[in-house]
Amino acid sequence: MTGHEVRLEDYKPTAFEIETVDLTFRLDPARTIVTSRLSMRRRNGEPASPLVLDGDELTFVELKIDGHAAGSDRFEASPSRLEVRDLPQTEFFTLEIVTEVAPADNTKLMGLYRSSGVYCTQCEAEGFRRITYFLDRPDVLAIYTTRIEAPKEDAPLLLSNGNPTDSGDLGEGWHYAVWHDPHPKPSYLFALVAGDLAVVRDDFVTASGRPVKLEIYVEHGKEARAAYAMDALKRSMKWDEERFGREYDLSVFMIVAVSDFNMGAMENKGLNIFNDKYVLADADTATDTDYANIEAIIAHEYFHNWTGNRITCRDWFQLCLKEGLTVYRDHEFSADTRSRPVKRIAEVRLLKAHQFPEDSGPLAHPVRPLRYSEINNFYTATVYEKGSEVVRMLATILGTEDFKRGLDLYFTRHDGDAATIEDFLACFEDATGVDLSQFSVWYHQAGTPVLSVGSRYDTSAKKLIVDIEQSVPPTPGEERKKLMHIPLRFGLFDPQGKEITARTVSGIEFSGDVLHIRERKHAVVFENVIDRPTLSLNRSFSAPVNIRYEQSSADLAHLARFETDPYSRWQSLSDLAMRELIRATGATRDGQTVRCDGSLIESLLTTLDDSSLEPALRGQAISLPGEADIAREIGTDIDPDAVHAARSGVMDEIARHGQDVFENIGESILPGGRYSPDAEAAGRRALYLAAISYLTRVALPPEALLPIIRSADNMTIMSGVLGILVHRFPGSAGAETALAEFELRFRDNPLVIDKWLSIQATIPGPNTLERVLQLMGTRHFSIENPNRVRALIGSFAAGNPTGFNLPDGAAYDFLAGQIIDLDARNPQVAARILTAMRSWKSLEPVRRERARIALSEIAQHSPLSPDVRDIADRTLGQ
Ligand code: PHE
Ligand code: ZN
Repeated sequence: MTGHEVRLEDYKPTAFEIETVDLTFRLDPARTIVTSRLSMRRRNGEPASPLVLDGDELTFVELKIDGHAAGSDRFEASPSRLEVRDLPQTEFFTLEIVTEVAPADNTKLMGLYRSSGVYCTQCEAEGFRRITYFLDRPDVLAIYTTRIEAPKEDAPLLLSNGNPTDSGDLGEGWHYAVWHDPHPKPSYLFALVAGDLAVVRDDFVTASGRPVKLEIYVEHGKEARAAYAMDALKRSMKWDEERFGREYDLSVFMIVAVSDFNMGAMENKGLNIFNDKYVLADADTATDTDYANIEAIIAHEYFHNWTGNRITCRDWFQLCLKEGLTVYRDHEFSADTRSRPVKRIAEVRLLKAHQFPEDSGPLAHPVRPLRYSEINNFYTATVYEKGSEVVRMLATILGTEDFKRGLDLYFTRHDGDAATIEDFLACFEDATGVDLSQFSVWYHQAGTPVLSVGSRYDTSAKKLIVDIEQSVPPTPGEERKKLMHIPLRFGLFDPQGKEITARTVSGIEFSGDVLHIRERKHAVVFENVIDRPTLSLNRSFSAPVNIRYEQSSADLAHLARFETDPYSRWQSLSDLAMRELIRATGATRDGQTVRCDGSLIESLLTTLDDSSLEPALRGQAISLPGEADIAREIGTDIDPDAVHAARSGVMDEIARHGQDVFENIGESILPGGRYSPDAEAAGRRALYLAAISYLTRVALPPEALLPIIRSADNMTIMSGVLGILVHRFPGSAGAETALAEFELRFRDNPLVIDKWLSIQATIPGPNTLERVLQLMGTRHFSIENPNRVRALIGSFAAGNPTGFNLPDGAAYDFLAGQIIDLDARNPQVAARILTAMRSWKSLEPVRRERARIALSEIAQHSPLSPDVRDIADRTLGQ
């Protein structure tokens, strides 16, 4: 890796195609021999250019051309490249390349590595070149046959992509297996697993009657904890047939759970490899959130079989082609499976918490970037989450039927292709005749659009006149912005709270309940509205934009009460709360006590008490915007301590006024009977925890929480109440006792201990840095395991505004040291954790300067991986 910039405009197809790849692995922890036989084809009319194959930290052993050993004059091999100069002039020829790799020393977890004694691979984005020299890019599609040889005792199980075709004994305790994948695929989808694992099996029959064997591989003894993942897999397969007409295409689908993994999971063809956190679950060890994540990620990886694998990306600039679309598909699956409005609220909360700050800071980039210096750093909230929102907007603009026609065309036209965003959009244009050129700006332009809205009601003319102006704030490298096509769902409510459905709109193109913002300014007129109506904009969050609308608090409260779209009802409450929280932050900084506006409290408590709403929605309604949300809205000169104090003060007031309602919920809302992870029961638990959290401010002392934790029969309540206790009463005897008991009970279950680490890493206040340092010294922490690092250091840096942003910069310096250490082992994880500092420029001057110094220290360190170099430089603005 050189760290130089790759540019979309430089894209050129390869001069050579690779038709088949025959791999043989002779596995050994220190010295694995990989033989790769490539049948090559020179493209028409290509001159006799040398062939340059990618490598990364490879040991070259041997090269054969058309079956004959090549002399050293015919090629040049280095760890990062193999250049073959003197090639046969024929159209077809073969190369046989032998390399040596050391899986046990592979700490980057890219390529072939070991996780708890299991051999596994991770090839996206550029890991295959750490196994063998190859044209390691997504537009080179080949048919793979993989032979694995290993000692039987060490690795009784030998897996790769596709279907098993042969296996047998090799003598001296060794055996082999051969796998053949009939679907041409890019190298990033290659996978191999070898080791001693237990398996959970099931079956699925596709809509057209094809039987599929389903297999989930986990560590011995953890089989029971894979049951939910299996159930989620079967439901995903069925749903994709019903909703999108997509069937599975091999006779076996395998999932392997490993404990060392850089990301969530990977969609390798027929052989998904998962971070075990997203496979293993039971009531004692997994929370409702864990269950929901498992379901969503199992679905996501499975859905990639069509959106990613059958149709892949031409180059890495097109990453959103597979990721944005697949996230959209998994969001729809969860919405259909659980509660649509609750899911939408969770999505928007996540988008605003991760993607909005990314889009407004130094790491902002378009959904489809034009340049990158390290592709690993582009697996971002923008590519995934905003990429999904763009697909959702397309569905909103086209309507369900036309969207489906376009998508069906995409599936048929591009099956087997490595495609681009232009190809994708062309399918919708061709299927519907709609011109999407202005819409495509969503892929090309970074930054969250702002809609400034003003409205007035003309009593005599009975008109509501709404002025809407669009703009996009400048982002790095993009000063001037283009006009965008923003689909804005709207609703109107009369003073009695009834929705006005007869709508005459002028001044803008609109279809159904969608306004199509395309110009810089629109004067939208709603005619024949007899009384002054209340306008609800961006219903169901139809566009990922910021709306600046000085709506009165009374109007927001009106919507919070009468909106029929539950998402928007929540949004209005949340806007109302945000106003109050920003005001309270200002008051705190001026040394005043926090007072909370009565209309907010009334709106919140009315919603909380509305038993016609599902419990999950009521739980969302009273969960105020987080400290990071408030900071994002304030935007500049942030004092995290003031934000914390303000939010806490507002919560105190709400608790005082709502004590009765909270007590009532605390006593009656929990589902009875045995634990079930279903959405309804999970919603009840979420509401219960929200109520308990308020009650600790008025009634519940720490001693009262301990028995709840001790008697909980599920991890959601146990870890939820533990978190409340530890965060509300840090250092108290009750909190420390509860933490010690939890550790004693779960000390041998690392995934549960991760929760224990995160809870402690996110204790507000200045003492947490010391606690994090202390925890790093315990046996529960390991710098080698990405889940542990994320649970402790990641949560501290990204999820603890007051604990991390210390005025003296001590925690920034701590993080800089950790990043530098971690970078030497695992650059990808180091770079990811460093993104926690992306909003440093919006801090108040003292902290800002401390943050700058720590970032500079990282940037000046040598050596530095391209991954951390890229994030550090861009974050600093260099
Ligand atoms: N492609 C994976 C997904 O989104 C994510 C991933 C990227 C995993 C890179 C590993 C490495 O499903
Ligand atoms: Zn994905």
